[in-house]
Amino acid sequence: MTAEIFLNVNGQSHALKVPPVKRLSEVIRDDLSLTGTKVGCNAGDCGACTVLVDGEQVCACLTPVIQAEGRQVTTVEGLAEKGTLSDLQKSFARHGAAQCGICTPGMLMAATSLLNKDSDPSRETVEDALGGVLCRCTGYQKIVDAILDISSPDTRESPAAGSAVGSSITKVDAIEKLNGSEKYGADGIPKDALWVRILRSPHALARVGMGDLRAKVNEFDGITDFLTFQDIPFNRFGIYPVGKDQPVLSDGLVRYRGDAVVAVVGTREAITKITLEDLSVVFEPLDPVIGVHAAMDATALQLHEDKPGNILIEGTVDKGNIGDGLLGAAAISNGSFKTRFVEHAYIEPEAGWAQRVGDRVEVHATTQAVHMDRDEIASVLQIDKERVRVVPTACGGGFGGKLDVSIQPILAVAAMKYDRPVAYVYERPESMAASTKRHPSEISCRFAADKDGKLLIAEMTADFDTGAYASWGPTVAGRVPVHGSGPYFVPNVHITGRGVFTNGPPAGAFRGFGVPQAAIAHETMMDDLAEQLGMDRLEIRLINAIKVGEPTSTGQILKASAGMGPCLEVLKNKWHSLLEEAEDFNGRNDGVKRQGVGVGAMWYGIGNTSLSNPSTMEVGIDRDGKITLFNGAVDIGQGSNTILQQICADAAGLPVDQFTYVMGDSDLTKDAGKTSASRQTFVSGKAAELAGLDLKSQILRHANVSEEAKFNIQGGVLYIDDGAGVREIALSSLPADEKGMVFFGTGTFDPPTTPLDEHGQGDPYATYGFAAQIALVEVDTELGTTQVNKIIAAHDVGKAINPQQVEGQIHGGIAQGLGLALMEEYVPGVTENLHDYLIPTFGDMPEMEVLIVEDAEPLGPYGAKGVGEPGLVPTAPAIFGAVRHATGVRVTEAPLLPHRLKAALKRQEAMQ
Ligand code: FES
Ligand code: FES
Repeated sequence: MTAEIFLNVNGQSHALKVPPVKRLSEVIRDDLSLTGTKVGCNAGDCGACTVLVDGEQVCACLTPVIQAEGRQVTTVEGLAEKGTLSDLQKSFARHGAAQCGICTPGMLMAATSLLNKDSDPSRETVEDALGGVLCRCTGYQKIVDAILDISSPDTRESPAAGSAVGSSITKVDAIEKLNGSEKYGADGIPKDALWVRILRSPHALARVGMGDLRAKVNEFDGITDFLTFQDIPFNRFGIYPVGKDQPVLSDGLVRYRGDAVVAVVGTREAITKITLEDLSVVFEPLDPVIGVHAAMDATALQLHEDKPGNILIEGTVDKGNIGDGLLGAAAISNGSFKTRFVEHAYIEPEAGWAQRVGDRVEVHATTQAVHMDRDEIASVLQIDKERVRVVPTACGGGFGGKLDVSIQPILAVAAMKYDRPVAYVYERPESMAASTKRHPSEISCRFAADKDGKLLIAEMTADFDTGAYASWGPTVAGRVPVHGSGPYFVPNVHITGRGVFTNGPPAGAFRGFGVPQAAIAHETMMDDLAEQLGMDRLEIRLINAIKVGEPTSTGQILKASAGMGPCLEVLKNKWHSLLEEAEDFNGRNDGVKRQGVGVGAMWYGIGNTSLSNPSTMEVGIDRDGKITLFNGAVDIGQGSNTILQQICADAAGLPVDQFTYVMGDSDLTKDAGKTSASRQTFVSGKAAELAGLDLKSQILRHANVSEEAKFNIQGGVLYIDDGAGVREIALSSLPADEKGMVFFGTGTFDPPTTPLDEHGQGDPYATYGFAAQIALVEVDTELGTTQVNKIIAAHDVGKAINPQQVEGQIHGGIAQGLGLALMEEYVPGVTENLHDYLIPTFGDMPEMEVLIVEDAEPLGPYGAKGVGEPGLVPTAPAIFGAVRHATGVRVTEAPLLPHRLKAALKRQEAMQ
């Protein structure tokens, strides 16, 4: 039933024939093509769709369009006036308040609604007013700062040539994220696209039977086809060449709840109505294997033919001799720890579209790994990779979850088959059910120290539930043994990491690749040892902090940039102040509410573990003097588009504000590897530096001048000043290459690593990031709740290329670390939406202070390392240490939900 509805949106009147109950968000996006309003859940949980109706914020996804008739609707596109950003938008840009930007329109609209009523709100008022909008990237602090500071002028000047590095310039893609013009996966879908949707298994393990589905196509209006595994040329995908074990569509067995069964192709409306029951798909459920203990039991069903014992992979690091180390022990600690599945919960669900172009396929999708996607699509289609083009859309958050392909293979298959654009946008429950998760872990360990607190041994067995398919399981099992001893010098080490198949959701990459789970264990060991020896907890870490010249667990001698000690040193005074603050609080209160302080330390190898992971960057100048960085690294919100330009500009000796860029298009850029493992600043940044240097040397060579000559480009003219005078070279007079470039620089960097031997000895990473965080928490011992009041984070990043963005990464990491520690637990079939699966909101976040430590890495661009994952790793250990300090409860399970803490408090009481 349609009706004529009159809408006024951003001051423009529209008469639309639409169903009166159609969601306002759909009308705005689909009928009015105002895609600045985002959809993250379609259920009122995320606030991404927030718009104003008569000045009040509403969730457009829950508002029937009829309710907006005759009223003033304002979307993010209505905030800027005549193309000039509003003061609020400018403040977001100035404060770095948008990372991936997918939540930004909703945040801006909610803030506008507040500021219309209260032009001078308090921090609490802002947090309340924006409390319905979720952000997974920023940790919220910069958003609040931006709203409280809208009237300050921007006093920053664009850095001159050679001084971009170290400057907190505004993100180069900020304007698009702030005015709603940025195109994410669901925003650029052609109007004539067919739509596809995968019907998924409701069972964790079942045999599947289906009849001739094609014969049923005509039974349903708007349906073009049903695709089954028989339509997939090579029905397997996976990260590692030896781990291609996940079917695009099930070929007889489903191995987790959410596994793909049948793909429905048709109109957008029609595909949403079809169910597996409609198609008479029959499941024969089997007893699923849940959890690593069940999977490793001798009687367990073997889930993959070639993986006896359900062991995907095992990695070990062995150094020294544990028995010898124990001889001098004055303190020995043991422990077992457990963590659970954690969902990435990026606010942008998986989305994109594909089309056939001649004999090639072009896939536009939200992703973290353009060139890997291209290779995977080519493998599924069984065509040469040159016949696949991947064009990344803006990415509304990834955190590792968009490193695996999701929609891409089925889109490519359908686009080739029907020769029409084909689109796919996951609904939130599908995104959560189908996508990879953080590995649940079961970790046992034993650490020992001598009477002075010096570590003697680190022993650990870490089993990771890798779920139904391999995904990034081998990476986790390989990375954890290297990191399990913590950021310390330990002479005797024995650590094993295993990936174990179960019938859980596939566990993949999630900010840290298992290291956050291991850090909970090793940092509890450090607190145990400090307690036994009567030492200060920060002091024992400082005594053991690994230094330049010392060997790691893998025998790698750190040659430079080992900032663990300096991170702990800068925290020392604050640590003692917080301890006093907690003591004072506890002395003044009745004991129901208790404050505590904890510290967590970490290290993180930057880039792939013992594997080549090169990146290539290119930079060119065309005949008009336009400078373009051809950058194959995907910016998922962390800011690589900006950072890589800053580095390249300084290397080339040109001002960064003259740069533009092409990001990620696999036809236009070289492989820069995936955006993961905190590698883009270090690896692609070095490649960008080399490309900039190459460009500079070509210019100097062409002008036949020395290194000392200065040059700049204005209005298509290259001005060269060699000391003897200024020369002009009209760029339009120079021959251009096939890309239209008159000068073109290239740089490639592959960090030097070596393979690990059978004892796990070698140089797995070229450099490591280090960090320590301290937390102040307040525990309600009756309710079992934990409120984190403060986190102070010290991070050695080598060199902060853009300090504001470094801080933003750490804030976001802290938010996700807090979620891991206190609230996030994915349970298949139970927490498959953002209502039941809780992520930190404004109200959950503590005050955060970031202290940047710069212990330069000679291999990195201008000394830089990486910070994407390190931001998260120490947070949970610091919080757990603080809970223990407050209550005496030694935390061994994450998340520490109130019922778990209450039970632990009860156990503790019973033992006293
Ligand atoms: S899309 Fe409307 S609240 Fe999430
Ligand atoms: S910037 Fe808020 S979700 Fe990414």
